[in-house]
Amino acid sequence: MVMASSGNSHAKIILIGEHSVVYHQPAIALPLPAVKEVVTLTPRDDGQQRLVSRYYTGDRQSGPNQLNGINCLIDSLLTRFSLQSQGFELTVNSHLPAERGMGSSAATAVAITRALYEFAGVALSHDQLLADAAISEQIIHGNPSGLDVATASANRPVWFVKGEEPKPIPMHMHGFLVIADSGIRGQTGEAVKAVATFRATHLSQATRLFNELGGLTSQARQAFEADQIAVLGSVFNRAQVLLEQLGVSHPKLDEMNEIARQNGAIGAKLTGGGMGGCMICLADTESTATRIRRALATAGVTQTWVQPFLSEETV
Ligand code: MEV
Repeated sequence: MVMASSGNSHAKIILIGEHSVVYHQPAIALPLPAVKEVVTLTPRDDGQQRLVSRYYTGDRQSGPNQLNGINCLIDSLLTRFSLQSQGFELTVNSHLPAERGMGSSAATAVAITRALYEFAGVALSHDQLLADAAISEQIIHGNPSGLDVATASANRPVWFVKGEEPKPIPMHMHGFLVIADSGIRGQTGEAVKAVATFRATHLSQATRLFNELGGLTSQARQAFEADQIAVLGSVFNRAQVLLEQLGVSHPKLDEMNEIARQNGAIGAKLTGGGMGGCMICLADTESTATRIRRALATAGVTQTWVQPFLSEETV
């Protein structure tokens, strides 16, 4: 007997290590618990399986191809719980902008997995959650590192190495992270493919870039532990240069990074897959963060968020 259920998750921001994490270098990501996603599941007597979301509402199997990953995840869990012919309405309520490098697809996968386990009355371990949510991420992104899913299900900053258990990292950094949306759809799948092609044709250069990004991630971790925002700022700026060399930046992101630096940001870089999506930068005080947000808004940026590094929810 199934019961109405719900599952939640939230956005994430990769602080450093995107792309190189796919090649086994470490990455650090910060959960953004304030930017939430909730999935609810209500049983239906007529056997229909309906999806209600901001992109599509209707029979879940008749939706656009973008739903293939989610449908595959749902099929696999329904089969596991012998609920293939159970009717339901699955409602996705998300505050995450899609395709902006904030882990929207992973957050959806995590929330759906949690909701379906509760629906079936089956207990869910954290390891199982990571493994199941990865089903749809593999279809959507091809070769995901697992970082997005790990952070969408975490409530503390995580140190992540592909294939290893994510570890919470000590966070003593004062200051603020400003996140700004370029308004251009990020293309994580495309960007991951472009980096794979670059690596196939320029192996030694790509390996050097990945190794340096991995080294910067270790430096960032030390900076977080020792509360050294200036060090973290240089790490961000250098990582941006390396990501540009990998070919995953975008002129709009470059422009936004520059505006942020001119308005007091201590360092700035793209975050996530790139080729669009969001940038992040560091502000030492809330008033600097406000100045950066205003300057970006004057340049036409419509969505920004500010996250203190030391907040009750992430420490
Ligand atoms: C995407 O949010 C992060 C990438 O490193 C890809 C991945 O880790 O799977 C670009």
